Amino acid sequence: MENMMIRRMDFAFQSDMDIVFIKDDPDMSFMFLGAWMMLPYLEPFLIRTMRDALPHITDAKLKEDLKRFCAQEGEHFKQHAKANDFIRSLHPSYEALRPLEKELDQELKDFTKNKPLKFKLAYAEGFESMTSAMSRAQLEVGLYDRTSSPLADLAKWHVMEELEHRSVAFDIYEHVVGSWFYRMKQSIWSQKHYFSWVKRFQKILVAPQADLIASYATPEITARRKAYNKHYMRRGIPRVLKTYMPWYDPSKVDLPPQFEAAREHYSHIATALS
Ligand SMILES: [Fe+2]
Ligand SMILES: [Fe+2]
Repeated sequence: MENMMIRRMDFAFQSDMDIVFIKDDPDMSFMFLGAWMMLPYLEPFLIRTMRDALPHITDAKLKEDLKRFCAQEGEHFKQHAKANDFIRSLHPSYEALRPLEKELDQELKDFTKNKPLKFKLAYAEGFESMTSAMSRAQLEVGLYDRTSSPLADLAKWHVMEELEHRSVAFDIYEHVVGSWFYRMKQSIWSQKHYFSWVKRFQKILVAPQADLIASYATPEITARRKAYNKHYMRRGIPRVLKTYMPWYDPSKVDLPPQFEAAREHYSHIATALS
């Protein structure tokens, strides 16, 4: 893929930033925050997987794509680790996140060591295809444009770069493995695996936040949230389903105009660009 930029970022995370960074939606905000607790372990797993694949790649352009993919994911997990430090400091009960983080790290390191390359590449592609399908919908509906939390800014930068490198894990899977049925079967397995972990992190994050969550339970906010989420899911879910099809090709998907605008914006505010 062309145009994968490596952007070094400096987000203004603060301990008093709004953690309900999805407007009107504490549940979705905590779901994302739970997912983000995983990223300093999951994205290194993706990088390790790509490095394992490198000796099997005979195409020079694909090798360059792989390096850029790893550089982008490397910056993603570093930025998320910074945000996670703030999030972990918000409540004493969030110390319970640490053993869970350790358990996840161990499991993914075990995958790297003991699972076959095709399993790891299909896992990576299952994660990447799902996130890029949802990222398109998120940019299109302006999911991260409705609060001024730096967490929304982090999310928008991340999903934009997920779209920039949306074809890399797919192309490498096709080059090294190539079976559609295995990709589809394993994508579903990896997505279930991922969400089972998200739920465990989310549960810890939500536990001390009953008052905050209740403050968003008014009929007016609930109605607004339901209408908005319908609008978002109608765009996201069909695109995820299309990734399971034998003819799925991430290089051929339509991208919303908000993607180019976000690319320009984050290239402009990056502290370094290459
Ligand atoms: Fe990422
Ligand atoms: Fe990615």
